[in-house]
Amino acid sequence: MQKKLQGQVAIITGASSGIGAGCAKEMADAGATVVVNYPIIQGKAMAETVVAEIIEAGGKAVSYKCDVSREDEVLLMFADVIQQFGTVDILVNNAGLQKDAPFTEMTLEQWNYVLGVNLTGQFLCAREAIKEFLRRGVNGKSKSAGKIICMSSVHEVIPWAGHANYAASKGGVMLMMKTIAQEFAPKMIRINSIAPGAIATPINHDAWDTQAHLQELLKLIPQKRVGKPDDIGKAAVWLASDDSDYVNGTTLFVDGGMTLYPGFEDNG
Ligand code: BGC
Repeated sequence: MQKKLQGQVAIITGASSGIGAGCAKEMADAGATVVVNYPIIQGKAMAETVVAEIIEAGGKAVSYKCDVSREDEVLLMFADVIQQFGTVDILVNNAGLQKDAPFTEMTLEQWNYVLGVNLTGQFLCAREAIKEFLRRGVNGKSKSAGKIICMSSVHEVIPWAGHANYAASKGGVMLMMKTIAQEFAPKMIRINSIAPGAIATPINHDAWDTQAHLQELLKLIPQKRVGKPDDIGKAAVWLASDDSDYVNGTTLFVDGGMTLYPGFEDNG
């Protein structure tokens, strides 16, 4: 049987660990050739491990170093990938980070760093992907000319004290995603977001590393389990496949119910 993403080329930013690595493995499993992006040379070994696991499982992948907050590097990554593989069919705009601080102590550097990667990085990569989708148009591989999945967060709607830069970046991702989905839907380009809840990855290690922390975290999750990277990877495959062909400009919450106001379960 033809796999859902057979022969499609997917760039996944920030794919050397966590949710990005989960998306890379699931998309490769669905038949995509995956570009495992990582930001700095120190990340190379981890990215190569993800690539090796994909190849071991029978998939296709390469690693590529690019800091998504830098325009010159993003332009080069898209040019290189298009030269090597002919085109790009799927972008998973995943690279993201946190630099948390109480608001009155947050430095401009912390603010700019998070916005630079989480929001500007998604802008730069989406812009280059869309240029390529428009150039190529619909080919035989998908009903769409291209698909973008923006990795957002439950914090595109849940305010988060001590994380103003992060929450602002994810709120920004939400309206950038919807705006460009509206702009390019007539061109057969689909753009959606995934809003993960608490997924066990390095970014939130402190929230689940001890039993005490885990019990606190589970109070926020009606389904009473922390998510796994493949919970997000499977949703990303669906959003990138023709199975979701009529889904455009929406955020899919994959959060075990975190956005269901769990505090109201026995109160209010
Ligand atoms: C954050 C995690 C956090 C989760 C739920 C994510 O977007 O990066 O640190 O655990 O939201 O609050």
